[in-house]
Amino acid sequence: MSTRIYIFDTTLRDGEQVPGCQLNTIEKIEVARQLEKLGVDVIEAGFPVSSPGDFNSVVEISKAVSNPTICALTRAVKKDIEVAADALKHAKRGRIHTGIGTSSYHIYNKLNSNPEEIIERAVEAVKYARKFVDDVEFYAEDAGRSDNEYLARVIEAVINAGATVVNIPDTTGYCLAQDYGTKIAYLVNNVPNIDKAIISTHCHNDLGMATANTMAGILNGARQVEVTMNGIGERAGNTSLEEVVMTLKCHKYLGYETGIDTTQIMKTSNLVSTLMRMPVQPNKAIVGRNAFAHSSGIHQDGVLKNRENYEIIDPVEVGVKESSIVLTARSGRAALKHRLSVLGYELEPRDLDAVYNKFLELADRKKDISDEDLEVLVGRNKNDE
Ligand code: KIV
Ligand code: ZN
Repeated sequence: MSTRIYIFDTTLRDGEQVPGCQLNTIEKIEVARQLEKLGVDVIEAGFPVSSPGDFNSVVEISKAVSNPTICALTRAVKKDIEVAADALKHAKRGRIHTGIGTSSYHIYNKLNSNPEEIIERAVEAVKYARKFVDDVEFYAEDAGRSDNEYLARVIEAVINAGATVVNIPDTTGYCLAQDYGTKIAYLVNNVPNIDKAIISTHCHNDLGMATANTMAGILNGARQVEVTMNGIGERAGNTSLEEVVMTLKCHKYLGYETGIDTTQIMKTSNLVSTLMRMPVQPNKAIVGRNAFAHSSGIHQDGVLKNRENYEIIDPVEVGVKESSIVLTARSGRAALKHRLSVLGYELEPRDLDAVYNKFLELADRKKDISDEDLEVLVGRNKNDE
């Protein structure tokens, strides 16, 4: 039996905060419907108190989507919680996500407070949110840089107050995987009532560690992961959904499963990228243009013999029709022969050599060689005969 990992998607909240990525309500509904098709468990739809537009989006997403839980973010402030509860009133299953900073940076420099007062405010917020909904998630902001003993006290108190999910964000993307994993293990082993709540990861990517940290969280007891499509989010972004889901799928022996229909990944990635005007870097894992493109001769030859020589994922699994063999000056005869045969040309070895030499000359001048270029090369070779 595999352990279920819940996918909490925050593309429409943490992702949408990014300058230039703002969506209108209609676009948000389109993304939310696609996230539902993808099979996410929770959609964080917005931060309702932040603007009337965000409030309205949470209302409309709650009406449009029925399978995932709809979550709304708040600070540990009564007014935020009241507004979030109001925005969620049409949700089949609504969740309030409330919280407060728990690192020394946040307690003293941001909130101008002290550790005991923070615990009181956290408990009060969770109790207040529970008056409106049964499902309350608490976030300990900057948990990544918070003292583990203090964090454990906060988490114990908010679970006693009624939190059903406890989110341990590495808000600044500071942690090493080993430290983040140890932090989750510390909570599992030192918070007496931890089995009454689900532990959630929420990792930012400032040092490029977000996916590794999320995996370390899962391996140490977290059962929910907070992610975004294409890894968009504040600054360097959040953990990307596709990376965690495909890591769990590729490493099935670990014994985890998600409810994601992975064949919807590419479609969702394209939709988010287009609507948010946020291009995906070509070498992005899973969804980048080059993720299934083979360009060097050695790799092309290997992949043509057997895809698994150089691919750990069948592209069809993530909604990509097929991997591609890109013809460049680094390509070998095997790749050229393969492409020519797809185009309907079966050349004798002598002709293949001649076309290959012409191909290399052209490829040194031009970055990519198209099918039209190949047609011209084959035609010229015929005329030379
Ligand atoms: O990064 C963070 O700490 C957050 C919280 C508001 C959950 O986004
Ligand atoms: Zn965040």
